[in-house]
Amino acid sequence: MNRRNVLAAGAMLAASAWTPLARAARPLGADHRARIQALLGQMTLAEKVGQMNQIAGGRQKSLNSKLDAAMLDRVRKGEMGSFLHVAGAEPLRDLQRVAVEESRLKIPLLFAMDVIHGYRTILPVPLALAASWDPKVAEQAARIAAEEAWAAGLHWTFTPMVDVARDPRWGRVVEGAGEDAYLGSRIAEAQVAGFQGADLGEGRRMMACAKHFVGYGAAEGGRDYDSAEVGPRTLNEVYLPPFHAAARAGAGSFMTAFNALDGVPMTANAELVRGFLRAQWHYQGLVVSDWNAIRELVNHGIAADAREAAVLALKAGVDMDMASGSYATYLAEAATADASLVPLIDESVGRILAAKARLGLFDDPYGFGDPARDKAPLRRTEARDLAKRSLVLLRNDGAVLPLKPGARLALIGALADDASSAIGSWRARGQATDAVTLKAALAGADYQPGTDVAAAVEAAKRADIVLVALGEDFNRTGEARSYAEIGLPEGQAALLEALKATGKPIVAILMGGRPLALERELTGVPAVLQTWLLGIESGPAIAEILTGKAAPGGRLPIGMPRRTGQSPQSYAHLPTGRPANPDLAVDSARYHDTEIGPLFAFGHGLTYGEIAYGPLSLSAETVAPGGRITASVQVTNRGTMAVDEVVQLYANDPVAAVSRPVAELRGFARVPLKPGQSRTVRFTLSPEQFAFWRDGKWIVEAGDIRLMAGASSVDLKSEARFRITAGAEGQVPAASLATKVEIA
Ligand code: GLC
Repeated sequence: MNRRNVLAAGAMLAASAWTPLARAARPLGADHRARIQALLGQMTLAEKVGQMNQIAGGRQKSLNSKLDAAMLDRVRKGEMGSFLHVAGAEPLRDLQRVAVEESRLKIPLLFAMDVIHGYRTILPVPLALAASWDPKVAEQAARIAAEEAWAAGLHWTFTPMVDVARDPRWGRVVEGAGEDAYLGSRIAEAQVAGFQGADLGEGRRMMACAKHFVGYGAAEGGRDYDSAEVGPRTLNEVYLPPFHAAARAGAGSFMTAFNALDGVPMTANAELVRGFLRAQWHYQGLVVSDWNAIRELVNHGIAADAREAAVLALKAGVDMDMASGSYATYLAEAATADASLVPLIDESVGRILAAKARLGLFDDPYGFGDPARDKAPLRRTEARDLAKRSLVLLRNDGAVLPLKPGARLALIGALADDASSAIGSWRARGQATDAVTLKAALAGADYQPGTDVAAAVEAAKRADIVLVALGEDFNRTGEARSYAEIGLPEGQAALLEALKATGKPIVAILMGGRPLALERELTGVPAVLQTWLLGIESGPAIAEILTGKAAPGGRLPIGMPRRTGQSPQSYAHLPTGRPANPDLAVDSARYHDTEIGPLFAFGHGLTYGEIAYGPLSLSAETVAPGGRITASVQVTNRGTMAVDEVVQLYANDPVAAVSRPVAELRGFARVPLKPGQSRTVRFTLSPEQFAFWRDGKWIVEAGDIRLMAGASSVDLKSEARFRITAGAEGQVPAASLATKVEIA
């Protein structure tokens, strides 16, 4: 999309009349509004700019380490409004006291940290939580994290990351909810609810931050920080919906992304931040830049120096400068030279003070933190349950799993004993020593790290079943961890081939933060379990699934490619004029050197037993704009174990004014089923959920819609059609709207 299109996109975005976000940044009480106005009237320009300045009070690995006397003196002078990389009930209470009792205007500080998937009790990484296909899991994880972080005096977490990601070469795929806008929207709103509670001020919760606005996951080549080029339709239909869902859920803050979107860095993207997020969505929360991103506008080549960068970011609508110091150094002088900047500064400071007010900091600046709770026992039981719900059984040929009691087990692979990887790369105050590894959980297994292949082969020969832990350690995914090849890391393929040669049945236990491209390596491996990075209880959770104490119920939130070269890809692709054809003699949209589609598809996951699907039935054959239609499907557990089935509903618009994806997720339900039990899932949808973005508007078109129910994006069991009887205009991103789901 060239520059003209960006303006057009901006204009288009501006053309539509967006409904104000229902709960975003819940309106302030009159008393708080009055207090903020009074403060703004008292503040000097320097004090205003101070509020817009966020400083690192330490490093991720040495929290609070920069809180020296000189820093406290800067707090007294009102030179910063927030700290990150700080924590601890007592140290933060002391720091707050300096601001609230020793500065001129006594404005409380905001304390922030990346509490991504746990604070002390480290839980499964976000991609694993999304693999549960259960928003309650994501909400519970966020609530646990918030309660622990609150006890440590923290007000603000830089999460959820709601960036849709379709290229697993991008290392940050681990931090999001995968490739789909609808699933991503459900997980985003659940995480916001978990972190913030019903209302920010309700206590023992913290302010969430939807990040990274926007298009960060579309980085070219999967290279972190690289440019993203997406057209207006893809931007609105794929990358924006989870942000809208997060904003509607009341996310108190947003973070702008490092990347440029069609040549305009998001930190200076006035069309999309001020012109769209603010003016169209009416979002009133706090917008913070990412680390040093304001100063990096100079690297992007759109600012000659940090002063110009600061002015561009302010004009774009960035309220707070994370760690670059550009606002602190230049904004006061720039606003003195150009008075038109002062109202923009007042707006930003107003939003920062409003965030502090919503957190209750003006009423009780010491209301966060509880030294006793800060030392409470880790929440292992909940951590294990969340981990068990996040595993995905990808393959189970010959019902190798669950393991037969008494089977002699060989457990091979360094990752099975890697406590540090179990807790991932965003570990807040988590400790590797808290993690129970798979090796520890399977103490009876004959363990070999796999570095000595011969010894591993000998262990395999002594066993009935070979469990081999394969994949990536925590440091191969996360920020700045993009890889051009996403097969097995060095040495693991050879180890696996040697183990295959023993002829013993192999269970591959995949670990890591991204889906790997493993078609060749997994050939001949009858059972494959995707376990991601599951937190402090990963070992026991995997062991319970392997032994059948619990049944796997997770599903892939992102497809697993056969080969790296297939990336990026998505199940929700357009049909093209020559849809991919299995017959290579037919010219079609596919590679000649690999099969069509991913090795394991979006939504794929097996369980212990067989699930039967009945026909998909509709409540009507037509629906008018503003109406509702219900699609029902019965599922039956034909197995002997209690299991969860994730029933998925996909939609396709077969003929429309623009080409539409072959399938788009528009509903799902994780359904507990006892042996022999049948249950009916009812999805109630509105025509607005099938709208597409065109000419700056959400277009609901009259015409047929296909609905397909199934166990994954490629395992569709039944379908039904209905017709939308008239055209209309939607108000919000279609994929951001939640389908009503009832399970009878
Ligand atoms: C990092 C990340 C962002 C994080 C911030 C603070 O660079 O991009 O997601 O919240 O800095 O640690």
